[in-house]
Amino acid sequence: MSGRIEGKTALVTGAAAGIGQAVATRFLAEGASVVAADIDEAGLSKLVAEAGSDRLVTTRCDVTNEDDVAAAVDLAVSRFGGLDIAVANAGGGTSSEIADHDFAEWRRVVDLCLHGVFLTVKHASRAMRAAGRGGSIINIASLNAVQPGRGMGAYCAAKAGVVALTEVSALEMGRHGVRVNAVAPGLVRTSATGPLWNIPGAVEEFVENAPLGRFAEPAEVANVVLFLASDEAGYVSASLYGVDGGARTRRYPDMIAHVERLMSGG
Ligand SMILES: NC(=O)c1ccc[n+]([C@@H]2O[C@H](COP(=O)([O-])OP(=O)(O)OC[C@H]3O[C@@H](n4cnc5c(N)ncnc54)[C@H](O)[C@@H]3O)[C@@H](O)[C@H]2O)c1
Repeated sequence: MSGRIEGKTALVTGAAAGIGQAVATRFLAEGASVVAADIDEAGLSKLVAEAGSDRLVTTRCDVTNEDDVAAAVDLAVSRFGGLDIAVANAGGGTSSEIADHDFAEWRRVVDLCLHGVFLTVKHASRAMRAAGRGGSIINIASLNAVQPGRGMGAYCAAKAGVVALTEVSALEMGRHGVRVNAVAPGLVRTSATGPLWNIPGAVEEFVENAPLGRFAEPAEVANVVLFLASDEAGYVSASLYGVDGGARTRRYPDMIAHVERLMSGG
């Protein structure tokens, strides 16, 4: 398979690691030009070393900073002549029950996971609307947008917000030929989830709660993002695609209970 997005230009945020890196790499393999945006400059250099292509440019971009996001979109336009695809992927969580939640930490997570997506959608939408040639925006939400997890209030609220933001922007951008969709991964093995493998029983419970009986690799999320980016999804908008092995049908593991068991030596 190759060339499914040949000649298109894509912006991928959080592209230095995990799902974003898999998306950027797959997009390059499918013929797109890619602006890989991240705060991790060493990770971006590694991406260039591994996936190096004259169709890849990287930029230091904090998705919570509007000037950074606007500059990343401008870079796609100035370097490659336009923006056809944007993947709002940068995100990350925290762990605290709401009654004990530090407000600054709550704000940090909502800023990253919701406001970062808002800024990416906003500036990608403006560029796509101005160019008048349509486009596809894919927001990386989470299984936690639809399934609550204990100690995950900020993350769940932000990711549910991403789904609402996706629907509203799809509603607004449809007349400009811009499709906006969201993807909701379950457990994917990345640097973000790596620590789970050190908590006895945690990954096993995720696996048990997924009807397919396993966790996912980043490339499996990239497959679905690629479909949504491509013309094959030409009549798909405002949708939420689960990539969770069916885990939505069961329940989310109680991570705080796992950590408490670990701390008490049990
Ligand atoms: N891994 C999973 O199991 C899983 C499950 C559901 C949803 N997700 C979502 O998928 C997305 C990617 O997660 P991942 O597991 O690949 O994470 P990861 O930590 O492996 O990669 C995230 C990347 O985002 C970058 N980043 C962090 N803050 C940033 C900022 N302010 N501006 C720009 N870049 C920033 C990091 O430097 C890193 O390169 C996130 O939105 C996450 O919430 C992941």
